[in-house]
Amino acid sequence: MSDSKKFASLTIGDKTLELPIYSPTEGPDVIDIRKLYAQGDVFTYDPGFTSTAACDSTITYIDGAAGILLHRGYTIGELTEKSHYLEVCYLLLNGELPSAEELEHFEYRITRHTMLHEQMMNFFRGFRRDAHPMAIMTGVVGAMSAFYHDSLDITDPQQREVASVRMISKMPTIAAMAFKYSKGQPFVYPSNDLDFASNFLRMCFATPVEEYEVDPILSRAMDRIFTLHADHEQNASTSTVRLAGSSGANPFACIAAGIACLWGPTHGGANQACLEMLEEIGTVDRIPEYIARAKDKNDSFRLMGFGHRVYKNFDPRAVVLKENADEVLELLGIENNPKLQVAKALEAAALEDPYFKEKKLFPNVDFYSGIILEAMGFPTSMFTPIFALSRTVGWIAQWKEMLDDPQLKIGRPRQLYQGESQRDYVDVEDR
Ligand code: CMC
Repeated sequence: MSDSKKFASLTIGDKTLELPIYSPTEGPDVIDIRKLYAQGDVFTYDPGFTSTAACDSTITYIDGAAGILLHRGYTIGELTEKSHYLEVCYLLLNGELPSAEELEHFEYRITRHTMLHEQMMNFFRGFRRDAHPMAIMTGVVGAMSAFYHDSLDITDPQQREVASVRMISKMPTIAAMAFKYSKGQPFVYPSNDLDFASNFLRMCFATPVEEYEVDPILSRAMDRIFTLHADHEQNASTSTVRLAGSSGANPFACIAAGIACLWGPTHGGANQACLEMLEEIGTVDRIPEYIARAKDKNDSFRLMGFGHRVYKNFDPRAVVLKENADEVLELLGIENNPKLQVAKALEAAALEDPYFKEKKLFPNVDFYSGIILEAMGFPTSMFTPIFALSRTVGWIAQWKEMLDDPQLKIGRPRQLYQGESQRDYVDVEDR
């Protein structure tokens, strides 16, 4: 971190502290409060980290007011249009776009590691057949630390690399197997002659009795969905991965922690919740009722797929997905999909509504992704696993960046304690 030339003064009682201010390449300045407790004997209070930068990073930047998302400086719009998922993976992990040779080598490595240890099949079979695929993924990814002992030493850069490649390449296999397991169908092994997205579609939709011809438009749409979800700076699951990793936990355990966090309905689980909401609304005439419920303080209902901690403008990922939805539904001949009609009308109604305008609530990535995934044939329970497999590279890039940071410390927030002060134990007969 560069030496600061700017300082913020903080006066506490008769003491004034000079706190360094750092200027990032993009975004607001950051006040360094690391010495605050030592010098001022106070903590800061920021539940939900609304004003706290927990790390410095060079991977992803979001300008929430302008609705801009950059990976290593490239806009998400340009990346989804001109690049593809594995190239974006390389970019996130290495900081620069690969040369043709580097890309070929990277794709080769990922493609050659897609199979799972055969014994892991038994692990899947331990789950109830109606288990949610996210439950299976959390368990199976955590269990990888029991199967791949040769890539657990986080102090060895080579082992870190091997663990990273293993997770990026095996995650689609794990997600597809979780899907197959829930359907009671046999697992489909990966196929090395297919690209990343086509391979995933085939592992999900082929059966031993019927081969699955991957449509290039669907494969491209799948690849775009992967790309759009690849990283999103310090969101809840990424921060979870960093926090778990800060203790020196093994990479598989850290990513399993990220998957568990992503599952929540206000994070990655929102895509499933959004589609269920569109289904519940059902017809365009019921939209006013649901908008009224979302605005009602006494009703816990929220418009799923709307609002974001950082974006106070259109989520640029939602813009790409809306176009994608039209393309995919047209290909499949279901342009008049009722959920898409409800989604479009709901979006228009919310964008016109003063409540949503004032609070700057716009559609987020989860608003349209479910419609596309459902049209492709995925059940709602697979939406969040697809988010998880796409985000694995982001979690890994952030985890690696953290381990390479010489300032790494175990994450350990403080608290504003509001409980009892020390008191004497009272024997049960005297209470
Ligand atoms: N519907 C109705 N009201 C909302 C919504 C919504 N979807 N989102 C926020 N608000 C209101 C909220 O009630 C609050 O009102 P008030 O100021 O009167 O108390 C105000 O807007 C600010 O909301 P917040 O919950 O304090 O904001 P946050 O930054 O903590 O939460 C959020 C962000 C994404 C959790 C929230 O907008 C939400 O719950 N959205 C629905 C779930 C969703 O779509 N999540 C996916 C996020 S994008 C994918 C990902 O990265 O995981």
